[in-house]
Amino acid sequence: MSPLYSLEEILDIVNTQIKGIRFTQKPASLFEPINYILSLGGKRIRPALALMACNLYRNNIAAAIPVAMGVEVFHNFTLLHDDLMDRADQRRGKPTVHVKWSDNTAILSGDAMLIEAYKEICKVDRRYLEPVLNLFSVTASEICCGQQYDMEFEKRMDVTIPEYLEMIRLKTAVLLGCALKEGAMVAGAFEDDMKLLYDFGINMGLAFQLKDDLLDVYGNPETFGKKTGGDILCNKKTFLLINALADPTAKDELYSWIEKKEFDEAEKIAAVTAIYDRLGLRAKSEELIREYYDKSVACLGKVSVSDDRKEVLFALAEDLINRNV
Ligand code: IPE
Ligand code: IPE
Ligand code: MG
Ligand code: MG
Ligand code: MG
Repeated sequence: MSPLYSLEEILDIVNTQIKGIRFTQKPASLFEPINYILSLGGKRIRPALALMACNLYRNNIAAAIPVAMGVEVFHNFTLLHDDLMDRADQRRGKPTVHVKWSDNTAILSGDAMLIEAYKEICKVDRRYLEPVLNLFSVTASEICCGQQYDMEFEKRMDVTIPEYLEMIRLKTAVLLGCALKEGAMVAGAFEDDMKLLYDFGINMGLAFQLKDDLLDVYGNPETFGKKTGGDILCNKKTFLLINALADPTAKDELYSWIEKKEFDEAEKIAAVTAIYDRLGLRAKSEELIREYYDKSVACLGKVSVSDDRKEVLFALAEDLINRNV
């Protein structure tokens, strides 16, 4: 096996490890939804980032497996609760847990998953257990804060772009940063490199959530695996909506859609999308995605290992901003 893993090899390892996490204990009604969400796949980028960060320093990436599994199980837990909060009925092309089972199932199976994520993290080498657990816990708390802002912003009409960026940093970017930093940590990386990798993850995460928000409007539901238009229906304060609300020619029409209690969903989605199109907000959003992508690769560029070892991370960052899924 080559000492430097390709993305395909990394994803193979991740998928094999995830398959190894199967819950057969009782009550099945608690654990079956966990097996279900974990079996639906997804891009697996967080565990891939953890393993790749470790691979920057070491040929053997086994030390990062607990972190990789912990962040992926944690991420999947957040999806159970997020889909309930967002009233989303599709995830990875399949019914969400609260739709397939019930709201209470999504809550409690989610809670059980959070605990399972900690159990995975705790398998890390004892030398690194404390710093790994600390960053993981700080990150998990930050994600709760981000999710709370996300919900509160649905009701607010004066959300600013800096507030939005801070919200997506918290709900999304910190987990990418955490995966990278912890992957490097268990490889024994120096503090300066860990900070650079964390910032690589934050900037990539901001670009990633901006892209997710774009795909929520412009994605193809078949490939994206989620219904499009959900953010518009919830009045999510995305980069697109905040910019549109700031435009005097669009404000009144947007307010009237946002205030309506009864409406045809497809009609609202089409009307709001038409406003985004007219204002050229897709391109504006792509520009900001590119800016954060550039910042992210600048951070990765400064990490103190040879460029050939970073190639796979550079390529993944690029894939993520060009993705359609
Ligand atoms: C979805 O994350 C939640 C966001 C932070 C946008 P992903 O887009 O990584 O979801 P999967 O795991 O690939 O399905
Ligand atoms: C999700 O953001 C962030 C977390 C799950 C913490 P979104 O609500 O945009 O994610 P999707 O679009 O449902 O995957
Ligand atoms: Mg959601
Ligand atoms: Mg959400
Ligand atoms: Mg989304």
